Amino acid sequence: MEKVGRNFLLLSAIYGVFGMGIGLYMASVETFKYSAVHSHLTLFGFVSLAIYGLTYSAGLAKNDRLAAAHFWVSALGAILFPIGEGLAIGGGSIALAVAGSLLVILSAVQFVVAIYRA
Ligand code: HEM
Repeated sequence: MEKVGRNFLLLSAIYGVFGMGIGLYMASVETFKYSAVHSHLTLFGFVSLAIYGLTYSAGLAKNDRLAAAHFWVSALGAILFPIGEGLAIGGGSIALAVAGSLLVILSAVQFVVAIYRA
């Protein structure tokens, strides 16, 4: 449980590498169709997860079983949302993007609750 801050930071760093990799790829092939995928993976996956992690590490959010649930909802949302977005941009179903975005917003609500309970 006490590792939740570190887990958020580690996953944030990993998503950051992938998000930046997509940015580098887009720049190298000069095709920006998937720029929303890159933006959400870097801004939610990298930046927001890092903010969540630092907040838990600083003791400003309640670190208990709900924090572990918060981690898994955020981890799934951060990856399913951009993947779903990529599928939708490519002409596929929007279902995964919708599911991912609901997880992302649920994680934001969990963050409010964790800060409030601290
Ligand atoms: C290796 C590092 C990165 C590279 C090579 C890169 C590259 C790119 C490229 C090529 C675009 C598309 C520009 C266009 O549509 O004209 C873009 C857009 C964007 N990037 Fe990155 N990026 C990097 C890191 C980041 C990071 C760390 C963040 C945020 C934390 C970020 C946030 C964004 C956002 C929000 C957009 C959308 C801008 C818009 O549509 O107006 N990028 N990036």
